[in-house]
Amino acid sequence: MTSEPTTALTAETGLAALATENRRFEPPADLAANANVKADVYDAASTDRLAFWEEQARRLQWEKPWTTALDWEPPFAKWFVGGELNVAVNCVDRHVAAGNGDRVAIHWEGEPEGDRRSITYTELQADVCRAANALTELGVEAGDRVMIYLPMIPEAVVAMLACARIGAPHSVVFGGFSAQALTDRITDADARLVITSDGGYRRGAAAALKPAVDEAADRCPSVQKVLVVRRTGQDVAWNDERDVWWHDVVDRQPDVHEARSFDSEQPLFLLYTSGTTGKPKGILHTSGGYLTQTSWSHNAVFDLKPETDVYWCTADIGWVTGHSYVVYGPLANGATQVMYEGTPDAGGKDRWWSIVERYGVSLLYTAPTAIRTFMKWGDELPAAHDLSTLRVLGSVGEPINPEAWIWYRRVIGGDRCPIVDTWWQTETGAMMIAPLPGVTSTKPGSAMGPLPGISVDVVNGEGTSVGEVGGGYLTLDEPWPAMLRGIWNDEERYRETYWSKFPGRYFAGDGAKWDDDHVLWLLGRVDDVMNVSGHRISTTEVESALVSHPSVAEAAVVGAADPTTGQAIVAFVTPKGSVADDVSSGDAFAQELRNHVAKEIGPIAKPRQILITPELPKTRSGKIMRRLLRDVAEHRELGDVTTLADPTVVNAINDKMGSSSSAED
Ligand code: WTA
Repeated sequence: MTSEPTTALTAETGLAALATENRRFEPPADLAANANVKADVYDAASTDRLAFWEEQARRLQWEKPWTTALDWEPPFAKWFVGGELNVAVNCVDRHVAAGNGDRVAIHWEGEPEGDRRSITYTELQADVCRAANALTELGVEAGDRVMIYLPMIPEAVVAMLACARIGAPHSVVFGGFSAQALTDRITDADARLVITSDGGYRRGAAAALKPAVDEAADRCPSVQKVLVVRRTGQDVAWNDERDVWWHDVVDRQPDVHEARSFDSEQPLFLLYTSGTTGKPKGILHTSGGYLTQTSWSHNAVFDLKPETDVYWCTADIGWVTGHSYVVYGPLANGATQVMYEGTPDAGGKDRWWSIVERYGVSLLYTAPTAIRTFMKWGDELPAAHDLSTLRVLGSVGEPINPEAWIWYRRVIGGDRCPIVDTWWQTETGAMMIAPLPGVTSTKPGSAMGPLPGISVDVVNGEGTSVGEVGGGYLTLDEPWPAMLRGIWNDEERYRETYWSKFPGRYFAGDGAKWDDDHVLWLLGRVDDVMNVSGHRISTTEVESALVSHPSVAEAAVVGAADPTTGQAIVAFVTPKGSVADDVSSGDAFAQELRNHVAKEIGPIAKPRQILITPELPKTRSGKIMRRLLRDVAEHRELGDVTTLADPTVVNAINDKMGSSSSAED
């Protein structure tokens, strides 16, 4: 484990920006006056944290009230013990029952121009009921795991809610993961049904999804059925025993479904995420606490007014942001939202801004990578559209550098919209650190401080709190409602990964610093997890993929700072003796290895750059010195090389790096 922050924003750059800027942005007066939550919420929450969360839980519809707010046997928490609810009923039916059935739940826009559908809450209710009936007909029962491998189409939301409705935990796998990655996840989750589509539209073309599912299902005996949505109409291979079309099975079902209630701790989903070692882990989330915190935070941090706002979160449902802030949080709040299938440049680099204009988007939630990409594309594209409906702008997934923060506020937000930078993780389930748009005066590049009801402590290497000012490791020292309940099938790994470095505290894996004003700055991961375009990828996972290639002897992977994607994957590879001579030029071999990684994990894990080298820099005890490789990858002056067994190795790599090129895709 290294102890240095690995992302572009460090305390130094962040605080240096402040030193020159040294300014805060106050909440707009009208927003502050009409905000859903006001400053007193912090006091209320700190006076009685559990009472605060109970009050937020009462925003939901419970079929049976809880008896105890929290049962905490570290590191295992149960929230709203004894309570019963149905998550899908909370996200859909109760809005219809309250007379809001005609409100649009989803304005969906496919990537091909003109491909649009608006779905009301009444229609969504019928869709979810039909899908729930279909899942039951296909033999899925409460507790069974269902895999979802779909593009950003309404059926993805319907499938998730249908699973929730019948108490079958879903596990969504991002469509950019390979057949191998899907196989690993299906095997670990022991899933009996996979929901997929023939494909989806990305970058102006129909991409296939089903072949990866076919390959995975052939290798996973647990899979009994594959339910296939027709999205693109492309030809697909068909297995009559296993495959069924969504339109054959779902469309003919009754559009009513009697939902039963489930225990507050009923598993809602597993979501696989990368850790520092080994295979991705299945993060387990449950129902009552998760829905309480996702819906409360969505309401508070975006100041959602469900009657008038149009909300758009650009995340894919394959990531936690898509779970908590496309599906569960916004729908539990009865929001109207936009969902878009494709890439930001499909049909023109102003596609997003034409969507904002068309639907009158007022609340936008996206990632710094996207913001930096738009900065590169120029101010003219957003300027050509009417973005005056925007009210609050959110950021998530990686540290946002002050320049991007200011650009987002000025160019997208017309200098009037507050920026809410939200820190959280797959494991935390919901936002943990963020400003409140009607309360907090913000500093550009900072997520400011913990939300009400959340307790954060920055500690030094010994686990001692640094107090009000100072830097160190970010920990959470009190349980929170949406916290992960464990790692699927691996209690030991759960304890070890999150609770052992600082006993009694949850260690997030991030560095953080309180500045002189007791404002919190997130400094990026301090472990071997990379953050590429807001996607978590572990260095060890990419290294394992590389060494699984028959011609690779050894590989070391580092995350190097990248002006657009935050970090980029750079790999150093030593070929096996027999092939080393043939690959001296390296380009074709590097390309082959990049494709190999795409096959093992997925295109998102392809290294930007692979350097073929006869040796890796090692200490005398044989440890690869990643710190030096990061210096090389970031074109920095090499740090201390005195502990190297052979200092000439790293110089040779450094020379080679200077003359090598990186891949663009
Ligand atoms: C990073 C995404 C700085 C962090 C919701 C964390 C952030 C990891 C921020 C979790 C932010 C997320 N500022 N860093 N606002 N948001 N991160 O599980 O390193 O995909 O540990 O969850 O992203 O990534 P994950």
